[in-house]
Amino acid sequence: MSRIAERNAARERDLLLGQREIIRDITERQRAEDELDRRVRQQAVVAEMGLRALRGDGLQALFVETVASVAAALDVELCALMEAQPEDGTLKMRAGAGPWKEGAVGNTTLPSTSGFMGFNAMSAKEPVVVADLASETRFLPCPFLLEHGIVSGVSVRIQGRGAVYGVLGAHSRSRRDYGRGHLNFLKSIANVLAAAIERERDEAELRCQREQLQSLSRKLIEAQEAEWRAIARELHDDFGQVLTAIRLNLQRSGSDPSESIQLVDQAIGRMRDLAHDLRPSILDDLGLSAALRWYVAREAKRAGLEARLDVADLPRLPATLETTCFRLVQEALTNIARHAQARQVQVELAGRDRSLFLTVRDDGKGFDARAALGRTVQGHSQGLLGMKERVSLVGGELEIDSAPGHGTSVHARLPVQDEANSVFFGMPAAAIEAGLAEENLQLERATQAKSDSLSPQALVQSLLAGGGS
Ligand SMILES: Nc1ncnc2c1ncn2[C@@H]1O[C@H](COP(=O)(O)OP(=O)(O)O)[C@@H](O)[C@H]1O
Ligand SMILES: [Mg+2]
Repeated sequence: MSRIAERNAARERDLLLGQREIIRDITERQRAEDELDRRVRQQAVVAEMGLRALRGDGLQALFVETVASVAAALDVELCALMEAQPEDGTLKMRAGAGPWKEGAVGNTTLPSTSGFMGFNAMSAKEPVVVADLASETRFLPCPFLLEHGIVSGVSVRIQGRGAVYGVLGAHSRSRRDYGRGHLNFLKSIANVLAAAIERERDEAELRCQREQLQSLSRKLIEAQEAEWRAIARELHDDFGQVLTAIRLNLQRSGSDPSESIQLVDQAIGRMRDLAHDLRPSILDDLGLSAALRWYVAREAKRAGLEARLDVADLPRLPATLETTCFRLVQEALTNIARHAQARQVQVELAGRDRSLFLTVRDDGKGFDARAALGRTVQGHSQGLLGMKERVSLVGGELEIDSAPGHGTSVHARLPVQDEANSVFFGMPAAAIEAGLAEENLQLERATQAKSDSLSPQALVQSLLAGGGS
């Protein structure tokens, strides 16, 4: 080859190389621009989904919107949002974008137990990328996805405050990679979904609590009315008649006072029952422990139950606390007598850790407490709800352990907030005993004085004295 020809060939080579360089530059730039463009689009999708979530149009609408946006932003054929169903260890398809088989969306359930793809997606913190589904070794390839011709994909869990809500998956029918940007995008979308789901759940809980409260207030007013009606009837029928008879007796000069005394005795008996049913004076006079022992023994006898009591001697507690505790036992025992078909009832009351611990246990037929509370909200019955409300009003906790066929235990923890009393729970035993002895003495004196002033003789005498003047 001549020199000239050699030079020409070299120049052409350089030119070709230069051209290739330029083409590579342009391709690189194009790729960078595409990448930037994709990122901007994905960020716009995240922002848009965030706004939608805030609008609160309902979760289903948000899910449908999300799967469509994710499929478009990741450029995949299929996208699905699966909700975890812990009760049967499956994931249910709540929303899907792309050519899913007819009827698949809303109905399909996939296993999420160990060994399956759903399990991996739910347990992994980071998105799970599948390069080639058919040759996957980490878990069993899901036949449902294979049937749809899916080759590659990425799934990310939707992590709620406590549990995993579900999985968001993007799937393509050809082999492809998912770079860091894609994975971050999918994670951001999953976070938006989790926040929206939590918000919806909080709102639902709030709504439910509000309904419970309204239902309770309504029932409270009704119960109060019924109670007043009953008192009015008793006063009119019982005491009205007895007092009229006494008046007639007293009007008859020289009549035998023993007949009047008998009538007064009867009236006092009825009055005591009435007052006890409304609010046992023993609770005010002798305090919670004594009132519980008396009440449980009386009610168990009435209902034909064997009663076991383990009630600690407690000092006087704030009236609200004593009343709350007493009413809990009252409702629990009423329920046992009415519903449990039990043979035995056990009541335990203890004070420790600045709290009162109450347990009322029966060996009856048991029930589904959750379902019963649910019915309560619909206004069927209020006993259990009333217990719950009373306990939460004093800042305590209530737990009902029950299952059909296994009896029922009602546990309550009521915090003792009163400083003077909270000392009791940390005081040495001797000091407690001394305090209790003094308290009992005072109570005995007070009860004696009260029962003296209530004796039939004292009443008749005061009536007679009044009539004579
Ligand atoms: N100790 C118990 N044993 C069996 N069933 C119970 C017991 N306590 C409550 N239940 C069930 O829970 C339901 C709701 O109780 P509650 O709210 O007190 O309403 P009510 O006593 O007016 O029916 C009852 O109807 C009964 O079926
Ligand atoms: Mg009841």
